Amino acid sequence: MSKLAGPEAKKIKNLFGGIANTYDRANDVITFGMARRWRKKLVKWSGAQPGMSVLDCATGTGDLALNFKSVVGKTGHVVGSDFCPEMIALAPDKAKKQNTEVTFQIEDVTELSPKDNSFDITSIAYGIRNVQDPKKGLSEMARVTKPGGKVMVIETGEITTPIFKHLIPIYFNFIVPLLGGFVSGNKEAYDYLNKSSSQFPCKEEFVEIMKSTEMFSEIEYISIMGGASYIYKGTVKSLT
Ligand SMILES: C[S@@+](CC[C@H](N)C(=O)[O-])C[C@H]1O[C@@H](n2cnc3c(N)ncnc32)[C@H](O)[C@@H]1O
Repeated sequence: MSKLAGPEAKKIKNLFGGIANTYDRANDVITFGMARRWRKKLVKWSGAQPGMSVLDCATGTGDLALNFKSVVGKTGHVVGSDFCPEMIALAPDKAKKQNTEVTFQIEDVTELSPKDNSFDITSIAYGIRNVQDPKKGLSEMARVTKPGGKVMVIETGEITTPIFKHLIPIYFNFIVPLLGGFVSGNKEAYDYLNKSSSQFPCKEEFVEIMKSTEMFSEIEYISIMGGASYIYKGTVKSLT
């Protein structure tokens, strides 16, 4: 395993299995629905175009995969993958309701089944901090992405705006576990999700993890809402 060790995979699978049915509702309550907008921002910044192929890893209940599908259209192809059967089981119904087609499959992001250079874009939303070996996950994402293609990551961050810097930790440390616990009936899960979010590297520290894979020629990032989340874009090295 590489240096930055995330949580044990089995524990994470069980945790998400236990909150899958209430995950979307709790997420909307906790982020005031803003996470939906932030995923769309990731799609826009990725440069996705009609006809492209996309793999969304740790897709959960499939929202980011569906956002990509609405951009790549009928000529494009999107695969959503996750290692938690209970989470991904909820995704096909969403696609059906939107009258669209996305392939959903069980995959561990640290051992992806697609061949090298299969996708124009790979993505992971609020998933990488839950992966046991984040560097391996990022390397796998880069491996299955075409040279010049993009690996897109959105993850929680560190608020730097002066007033919010003090208020937001109070919200996340005390209110989020209560809200998440109330909606899901599982306060411990939201205690964990909050802790993992405050401990996970962001900005340059996360860029260092991406760099350590030696698979990117360029890595950029943007902050959202004063640092509540960050979107990272890695361009996969060309072969020449
Ligand atoms: C916070 S949820 C995010 C779900 C979704 N991407 C979203 O934006 O709402 C984290 C997801 O990461 C998945 N996950 C964690 N480790 C994984 C791994 N090694 N391989 C695949 N999925 C993983 C979990 O099963 C869970 O569905």
